[in-house]
Amino acid sequence: MTGNVEMNFDGKTIGFPTIVGSEGEVGVNITALRNQTGCITLDPGYGNTGSCESAITFIDGEEGILRYRGYDIAELAAKSTFIETSYLLIYGNLPSRAQLVDFSNLLTENQMLHEDMRHLFDGFPPTAHPMAILSAMINAASSYHPNIINKREERFPWHAARLISQVRTIAAYSYRKARGLPTIYPKTTLKYTANFLHMMFSHPGEDIELKPEIVRALDLIFLLHADHEQNCSTSTVRMVASSRANLFASASAGVCALWGPLHGGANQAVLEMLQEIHHEGDDGSKFLAQVKDKTGNRRLMGFGHRVYKNFDPRAVIIKEQCDKVLAQLHKSDPLLDIAKKLEEIALHDDYFVSRKLYPNVDFYSGIIMRAIGIPLDMFTVMFAIGRMPGWIANFKEVMEDPESRIARPRQIYTGPTLRSYKTLDQRG
Ligand code: ACO
Repeated sequence: MTGNVEMNFDGKTIGFPTIVGSEGEVGVNITALRNQTGCITLDPGYGNTGSCESAITFIDGEEGILRYRGYDIAELAAKSTFIETSYLLIYGNLPSRAQLVDFSNLLTENQMLHEDMRHLFDGFPPTAHPMAILSAMINAASSYHPNIINKREERFPWHAARLISQVRTIAAYSYRKARGLPTIYPKTTLKYTANFLHMMFSHPGEDIELKPEIVRALDLIFLLHADHEQNCSTSTVRMVASSRANLFASASAGVCALWGPLHGGANQAVLEMLQEIHHEGDDGSKFLAQVKDKTGNRRLMGFGHRVYKNFDPRAVIIKEQCDKVLAQLHKSDPLLDIAKKLEEIALHDDYFVSRKLYPNVDFYSGIIMRAIGIPLDMFTVMFAIGRMPGWIANFKEVMEDPESRIARPRQIYTGPTLRSYKTLDQRG
């Protein structure tokens, strides 16, 4: 469905076509704006800017709705798995039984890193952040598969499977390398998330016990993070893909964007905040007072979201899972007590209520990962593993869009106007 919006520029009325999405969202197509008026739009942070049309994920932030390819996140969380959901995101529909078997086999066949890649891990210091290793290794992996560059459409299913499968192998290797532990190879008999836990925590000759509830909790974390429409990292992936860079290069850029504490790094920041509060013997109230005073520019990490302004539907699901995991592991966690206290106060405090700040998915996922034994600096890596199918789906959408152009925003220049070069002597 299309319409028209008329705008007045210097007394001249100009019409712009509107485009309406399948859930009724309306966008004004301003591609002719600069030609017709000489003006551009200015929207720092892109809060009002649609960068693309996409059929992958739908979010209604006011209503707390998140759907992958039309399926509600709560239904997928209850009935699906991360791998089935990955297929759904990338290929548009839930797989048939045969398609799921083929997809799983492709993942298994491609789970091993090229053996030479293992030596690259030796070049990193033990203190290297795993996100730095992850982005470097994903990019490096493209050099072991040269046809990713010139046969990218034809070989897409293999490259996509390789990326989903190997990101988890790279993540586990980086964890073990940092601790001086021997590498554990993936097993063909284990499913995706169980295999990851095996590569992380088994020892040569001694496999860890894979508790189904723990495997399920981590699988759920991956599934809940699998896509989130045009967030910072996904937009980065699309931006890089728009230059026709390869899938691995685009995903590697996504990892870098995800690393920041205002995005994927928030789950690590939440735990650091809880540890700090605990260390200072505060029950959370002193910390919240500082946040509200805006002293030291502190934020309640794990609260607030650019899009969700009532609740984050993923936070509701993960909170329930968090309680289950801790109960099943018979673990009580003082940090969880602080988190609950912070949540209770903030949900009734005018500062947070008036700004529509609610817990986001990161507020709880860190507590689950801590209970499972995943170290703090690996939290954002877990997010990257989960987000990989979303990035791949978005890459595919860019690649298959016949109207896709290189992304190239404009700017309003605010620097000096023309001035003449002065020699060093003239500058004094
Ligand atoms: N704690 C305290 N105050 C906050 C918080 C917070 N977590 N988030 C926003 N605010 C305040 C801001 O100070 C601002 O207040 P003001 O109007 O008095 O100036 C107001 O709320 C609006 O804030 P913005 O920064 O404009 O909100 P924006 O939509 O740009 O930011 C963001 C969203 C980055 C997620 C922000 O809420 C935040 O920093 N949260 C903490 C980090 C976090 O949890 N990130 C994870 C996001 S979810 C994800 O990536 C999976």
